[in-house]
Amino acid sequence: MNDIRKIMVLGAGDLGRRVLHDLAHSPHPRRVQLLGRNAEVTLRAVNLARFSSMQRGHRTEVGHALTDLTDVARTAERIAAFQPDVLFLAVSYQPWWHITTLPEAAFQRLYAANYGPWLPMHLVPTMKAMEALRMAGSAAVVVNAAYPDAVHPVLAAAGLSPHIGIGNVANNVPGIRASAADQLGMDVAEIDALLVAHHYVSHRLSRRGDSGPAAMALAVLHQGQDITGKLDVPEVLRRLPADYRRTGGLAGQAMTAASALSVLEPLADGRDALVHAPGPDGLVGGYPVLLSEGRTRLVLPGGMSREEAVAVNLSGQWHDGIAEIRPDGTVVFEESSMRVLTDEFGYDCRTMPLSEAEDRATEITERYTRYRARVTDSTGAAR
Ligand SMILES: NC(=O)c1ccc[n+]([C@@H]2O[C@H](COP(=O)([O-])OP(=O)(O)OC[C@H]3O[C@@H](n4cnc5c(N)ncnc54)[C@H](OP(=O)(O)O)[C@@H]3O)[C@@H](O)[C@H]2O)c1
Repeated sequence: MNDIRKIMVLGAGDLGRRVLHDLAHSPHPRRVQLLGRNAEVTLRAVNLARFSSMQRGHRTEVGHALTDLTDVARTAERIAAFQPDVLFLAVSYQPWWHITTLPEAAFQRLYAANYGPWLPMHLVPTMKAMEALRMAGSAAVVVNAAYPDAVHPVLAAAGLSPHIGIGNVANNVPGIRASAADQLGMDVAEIDALLVAHHYVSHRLSRRGDSGPAAMALAVLHQGQDITGKLDVPEVLRRLPADYRRTGGLAGQAMTAASALSVLEPLADGRDALVHAPGPDGLVGGYPVLLSEGRTRLVLPGGMSREEAVAVNLSGQWHDGIAEIRPDGTVVFEESSMRVLTDEFGYDCRTMPLSEAEDRATEITERYTRYRARVTDSTGAAR
């Protein structure tokens, strides 16, 4: 491929800045643009990526532009002006880690809700970005970081799903490969894993070392041959939060950035790759996926059908707090997860048509902001 590929990163937060930095440090000629909201943050992030890349002898062109996603026409103008081949979305009204900044007791209570009830905070900015993409007439391949396991099937109902997600199912695959290789005394370079797992399971695997009440599917391959039967699989997984534990929190988002790059770089460089990703083609949950010529194809473990893989992910979805995503995009939230948010800050939404998602995101923002002030005041300090 001789033409210079253009990659736009939308979102100048922690993950967007990490991915921009890594994209800029490449021997491949490419143009990268960070589309941020805050002028000062965006300029500094771009100059850091640009100068550190120059320092190491790379020639990536790094630029920036500004938008607020609530202004769809302006975002569309920015996309049309840059004409990206690949668009990476790293925007959220409230990322997963925000509740970790609350006082410990409040964090633990909210953590019990799992991720599903917070869906509008990821769904709405992604929807705005996709509306802008459509308005710009862009044919960019869209890769999304914000809860793709659930955001994509909802947006698919409106024909607005990004092409593929990043992270979640992917984040545990290197650890599983290392754990399996060590158990068998084999070279990790010859070991591959095929994992089908929803966000709920991915999150639980790295913290508890099992999938809990939810289903998952895993095959381990040695030089392409299925050797799962030779492994003590529960033990491979149990060791993830033990011998194979890794740095968590914001610093741990280095793993997410690596998972993002595993998808973005083959797409940008026009090469095939077997990756793990959530939400390919609007599907619920996470899968092993072959990227080929800008298209995605599931590569499932041990003869598993697409329907069986989706069923595995639907089980994870339920435990993440989403009972159902209907064909028209209406979301039905699972009762016990939603009750946590109701008890903590009075938010109660059992059924959400897509048309009401924006109002729900506003309501969560307002209620959570008041809640945060209250719980922080009552204990004197945040964690
Ligand atoms: N899939 C995974 O494995 C995985 C792992 C980690 C994170 N994530 C997700 O990745 C996303 C980014 O995470 P993060 O840690 O980078 O969060 P972050 O630091 O909070 O970044 C989010 C960004 O979204 C921007 N934003 C919010 N509303 C906007 C608007 N109306 N217009 C334009 N920009 C807007 C924010 O802009 P300001 O800076 O101006 O506020 C911020 O830069 C989140 O959805 C997070 O949950 C996914």
